[in-house]
Amino acid sequence: MAVKIKENIYWVGAVDWNLRDFHGYITGRGATYNSYLIVDQKIALVDTVKAPLFNDMIDRISAVTDPSNISYLICNHIEKDHSSGIPELVRRVPQIKIFATKMAQTGLTKYYGDLPLQIVKTGDTLSLGSKNLQFIEIPMIHWPDSMMTYVPESHLLLSNDAFGQHIATSCRFDDEVNFPEVMYEAAKYFANLLTHLAPLIQNALKKIEELKLSIDMIAPSHGIIWRSNPGAIIQAYRDWCSCTTREKIIVIYDTMWQATECIAKILLNAVADAGFEAKLLKLRENHRSDIMAELLDARGFFLGSPTLHRTIFPTVADLICYMQGLKPQKKIAAAFGSYGWSGESVPLLTDALKGLGLEVIEPGVKVQYMPSADDKSLILALADALISKAKNP
Ligand code: FEO
Repeated sequence: MAVKIKENIYWVGAVDWNLRDFHGYITGRGATYNSYLIVDQKIALVDTVKAPLFNDMIDRISAVTDPSNISYLICNHIEKDHSSGIPELVRRVPQIKIFATKMAQTGLTKYYGDLPLQIVKTGDTLSLGSKNLQFIEIPMIHWPDSMMTYVPESHLLLSNDAFGQHIATSCRFDDEVNFPEVMYEAAKYFANLLTHLAPLIQNALKKIEELKLSIDMIAPSHGIIWRSNPGAIIQAYRDWCSCTTREKIIVIYDTMWQATECIAKILLNAVADAGFEAKLLKLRENHRSDIMAELLDARGFFLGSPTLHRTIFPTVADLICYMQGLKPQKKIAAAFGSYGWSGESVPLLTDALKGLGLEVIEPGVKVQYMPSADDKSLILALADALISKAKNP
C-alpha cells in the first residue's frame, strides 16, 4: 500500500526483497526503489521503479489516485533502477511530461526513444498548485545526470541515490527500524558506490548548505527515509567524504596452504595487542563489497597474497581492481604474502597499493613456505611500522 510520508505526499515504490547482487555489490538485505507521489492541483511522480516491479508501484499509486491523473514525472536519475519503469508509465499516461537534467537527455533517449522531456537545471521550479518542486543538480551522485528535488512547503528533500541504503524492509522510516543496521547499510552503500566521488559529494553538500534549504525529512530513492534526525546522515556523509577514520586496522588476505594466513594472524594479533580494533578478512569468505564497507572507517590495512603462477592470487587481484575504481583514500597500507620459489606477489601488491595513492609501508614481508622465527620478527616489525603511523595519522 502507499505510505503517507507528508501531507499529500506518498511513498509508492517497490521492495526488491530477494535482490542479492546489485551490479557486483552484494545486497544481503535486498533493496528498495523509492518513488514518491505528490498530490496537488497537479500530480507529480518522482522517479519510477525497476521495470519488473512496475506493477507494485502502479498498485500503490492506484490506492491514492488513478495513475492517469499524473501530470508530471520527475526523473531525478536515469539509471535503470529508477528509470526502467518510464516506457510503461508513458504508455499508460500518454499526456505525462517528464522533467530531467540536460545530462539525462541522451541517456533517456538512447534507453527509451523519444520521450516528452522538459530539461531543468538547478534553481528551476515547477508549481503543482500549493506545493513547488525545486530542482538541484548533483552531477555524479551517482551519474552525470543526477539531481535532487526539494519540496520547500514540506521541508522535504527527495535526494535520489544520495543518502540511500540497500535494505528491503516493510518499514519506511529510520525510527521504525534497527538504526545501526541502517547506518551500516548506508556506509556500505557509500563505500561501494560513492567513495571515488567524495569531492563531488562534498560540493553537493556545500551547495545544499548554501541554498539554506529547510529540511526535516530526506527521502532517498533506496532504503529507509530519514525523518528522526536527517542531520545524522548528512554528518555521516561529511565524515565519509573527508575520510574520517578511527583506530581500526584490517587484515585482508587469501591463502593457498595457510602460510599467508599464518602471517595474517600474526599481524592481526599485533594490531589487537596495540589496542586497535582488528579484523581478519579472507577474500574467498568475504565479498569485496563487504570488505569495502569495513575499510571505510579503517585507518589502515594489510593486504596479503600468496604467489600463484608468478603473480597475485585471483581474489586479491579482484579486490585491487575494485579498489582502483573506488579509490579509497587516506589509509596506510602494507603488503605481505608467502611463496615457494619465485615470490612476485608482495612487490606486485606493493606497487598496486602505491598506484592507489595510499601511504604504503615498504618493504612488505614475503615469506618462503612458512614463517620462520626470523620471518616472525620481520612481520612484527611491519605491524609496528603500520600501527605507529596509524597512531599518528
Ligand atoms: Fe539507484 Fe545510480 O541508481
